[in-house]
Amino acid sequence: VDPALSDRFMRNHTYLRISLTERCSLRCVYCMPENGVDLTPDARLLRTDEMMRIARLLVNAGVNKIRLTGGEPTVRRDLPEIVGGLNTLRPNGLRQIALTSNGIALPRMLPSLVLNGLDRLNISIDTLDRDRFIKITRRDGLPRVLEAIDLALELGLAPLKLNCVLMAGVNDDELLALAELSRARPIDVRFIEYMPFDGNRWKHESMMPFEDMLGRLKREHPTLAKQPTPANDVAVSWKLPESAGSVSFIASMTQPFCGSCNRIRLTADGSLKVCLFGSREVSLRDAMREGATDAELLELVGGALQRKHAAHAGMHAIAATKNRPMTTIGG
Ligand code: GTP
Ligand code: 5AD
Ligand code: SF4
Repeated sequence: VDPALSDRFMRNHTYLRISLTERCSLRCVYCMPENGVDLTPDARLLRTDEMMRIARLLVNAGVNKIRLTGGEPTVRRDLPEIVGGLNTLRPNGLRQIALTSNGIALPRMLPSLVLNGLDRLNISIDTLDRDRFIKITRRDGLPRVLEAIDLALELGLAPLKLNCVLMAGVNDDELLALAELSRARPIDVRFIEYMPFDGNRWKHESMMPFEDMLGRLKREHPTLAKQPTPANDVAVSWKLPESAGSVSFIASMTQPFCGSCNRIRLTADGSLKVCLFGSREVSLRDAMREGATDAELLELVGGALQRKHAAHAGMHAIAATKNRPMTTIGG
């Protein structure tokens, strides 16, 4: 790994998350501010060739995993071509091309994504109730998300990960039902602690702490088996008895995993974020448009990583700090 991708805490940043768009086909209450977001004008968004230049540069420097996010990445019609473009970086050291999606467009788009080189898929699903899905996402989309899950398994995208943001009084009563999705098929159901972002009206009381979620699951399933945690994974995993999949928790708020952080982010408008919760950004777009060389771009990345903190400042501090709306970061 190029020294530019290391920070003061010996963390190597080999996992790049690229937000491809600020747009989304849903309006999830925990992600999109109530009045939406002011979309960046097209001229200030990265062009595909600019995004590919950064991806190639960072893969050459040691990035081995790229996850495409949004907004919702499938609203980009050229998503299959983007995946295909990244797929040409395998000889340079790229090992994984992953996607995080709300699933809505996947019944249509997933076959071409897999054909073009997509290896891993995480689908967001917070409820199994159609009316509640409408309340949470402000769109009637549950049947298509369920269809996307079936199709992903048919296409061999295993283990398929499902992301569930549990919120107290909103959908926390579905913990056990959602966990059951891990029973018959190789699905990793991941429960995520609700995190504060600009405009999402985060409240401490709405967040379901990891220990509470795990406690509930253990009361129902006393023989729950803990699974080993892969290096740099954000989730800790358990297995229901005789299940094909697993149930995991992403405790970003109550048990932060910053010590093993290997993630950097490129926003749709071309800014590098070295932390999900940092407001400090470096515009690689501006540097590129001012004629920066690859070496100069890598130097900017290295400089930003030298300023990366050991850990985030804690949920209450994060909630009080200006960042971006989640929908323009991509998680
Ligand atoms: P895998 O590559 O399958 O492990 O997925 P992932 O968890 O890295 O990505 P995904 O897009 O599925 O994100 C799931 C949840 O984890 C989202 O709520 C993200 O915001 C959160 N998450 C991902 N990376 C980080 C991180 O670096 N820090 C924090 N605090 N949360 C993260
Ligand atoms: N807290 C936790 N997770 C969130 N996500 C979106 N907003 C939040 C939030 N405020 C999740 C989505 C998606 C992933 C990229 O991030 O559910 O699965
Ligand atoms: Fe990495 Fe920041 Fe997430 Fe911590 S909060 S794991 S430092 S991105």
